[in-house]
Amino acid sequence: MKFFIDTANLAEIQEAYDLGVLDGVTTNPSLMAKEGITGDDNVRAHYKAICDIVDDKVSAEVISTDFESMVKEGESLAAIDDKIVVKVPMIKDGVKAIKHFSQNGIRTNCTLVFSAGQAILAAKAGATYLSPFIGRLDDISFDGLDLIQQIVHIYNVYGFETEVLAASVRHTMHLIKCAEIGADVVTCPLNVITGLLKHPLTDSGLAKFLADHAKASGK
Ligand code: G3P
Repeated sequence: MKFFIDTANLAEIQEAYDLGVLDGVTTNPSLMAKEGITGDDNVRAHYKAICDIVDDKVSAEVISTDFESMVKEGESLAAIDDKIVVKVPMIKDGVKAIKHFSQNGIRTNCTLVFSAGQAILAAKAGATYLSPFIGRLDDISFDGLDLIQQIVHIYNVYGFETEVLAASVRHTMHLIKCAEIGADVVTCPLNVITGLLKHPLTDSGLAKFLADHAKASGK
């Protein structure tokens, strides 16, 4: 199971990378805006800065919505660094763009996926990654994890190579359930990754070990 961090914050990306468990980064226009990154040159420089931290797989999202512009923008994003994965929304022209990129050796991440039908289309088009949004489905009283399970099953039945990248992951239980289901990748905020560390018995057990060692050493 791969861990991607879902942020454009360089310090958080560095912290997750330093932990030694990071496999990639996902961003979106909202996350870039949150960091105050605007303007084409600044956006490109920021993607390059992210690529310089991690080993591979940095999703950079197109903001175009027609086929020709998506292809032009995606090719331009891919030219920033070999680590870039072009993130494309699940719309009609997006599916065409994913097909184009897959035929031209550019990796893609199909985003804003909320149904199994969309997942099948993206896989048929040759998407490298598929991003179903768990939390946003939960927000409207649909079970986002049920969708992950359904897509993993369908992809396994047909041997689709598209990797299921569970997105909109809000807490550690989302991540753990995705692991049980067999999602290939989870992308989440830093606090979800570091949240996996926490257990009160670890903390109290370590405190006792250290106290016993200090007592035995006469400290
Ligand atoms: O990767 C998609 C993710 O950024 C959406 O998360 O929490 O805004 O639904 P959220």
